[in-house]
Amino acid sequence: MSGSSALFKTDGEKVMQSSKIERSGLQIDVFPTREEASAAAADEVEALLRKKDSVNLGLATGSTPLPFYRELVRRHREEGLSFAQMEGFNLDEYEGLPPEHPESYDSFMQQQLYAHIDARESHLLPGIYQNAEEACRAYEEKIVEKGGLDWQLLGIGGNGHIGFNEPGSPVDSRTRRIELDERTRRDAVKQFGTLEKVPLAALTMGIGTILEAKRIVLMAWGAGKAGILQKALQGPVTAEVPASFLQTHGNVRILIDEEASQG
Ligand code: PGA
Repeated sequence: MSGSSALFKTDGEKVMQSSKIERSGLQIDVFPTREEASAAAADEVEALLRKKDSVNLGLATGSTPLPFYRELVRRHREEGLSFAQMEGFNLDEYEGLPPEHPESYDSFMQQQLYAHIDARESHLLPGIYQNAEEACRAYEEKIVEKGGLDWQLLGIGGNGHIGFNEPGSPVDSRTRRIELDERTRRDAVKQFGTLEKVPLAALTMGIGTILEAKRIVLMAWGAGKAGILQKALQGPVTAEVPASFLQTHGNVRILIDEEASQG
């Protein structure tokens, strides 16, 4: 890129709908707003629901997917889109939080999505468990038994994590218990109120688990994500930036807004 640090910027050209940039086998689509980008992700899900008898979606939490879930719920309510053949598999869950805890990802998914649509089933890793290895093995087996993930949604953490695969997570890592990075815990203070309340660990699908999804869509919004996106999508493929492993997958789409495109 000449003269500019912007990885995705289209040479000052005003982006009206979306601009497409191919890089390292990644399709990167830049939209004026996160709502328009989220609608593009919803279009993919809708196409799958209209085509297949059974659709397994890998789903993410955090602030990033909120406009995407809003759009799915809107299509269900206003357009009658049915999710009856959909099963969702969440990426991760905080250790120690029961499903009814307001900050559990189970609660998040109920509030943002499942309470409002007719999905067949929701699968989540447990926050409370006897044996982490067994719980993680059972989750992997469930994904395989259901036929694998058709479509996986991802956000990206400020440290490059996907799911809770923190820096250092190997490309072949499977679903497992992981201790959360200091950076990740600090980012979660806005939800939990204080750092002490943020769990120290989580269960997460592994990088290897995620990369087995047939298609992966990563979304990111705002200038705060521009730097890490640049590292993940243009930098070396390295466990230090777990999202960089997406460069090796071959069927990944990156949906970002203009602010996130200007590193
Ligand atoms: P965010 O988190 O959607 O709240 O920015 C993304 C992540 O940590 O994966």
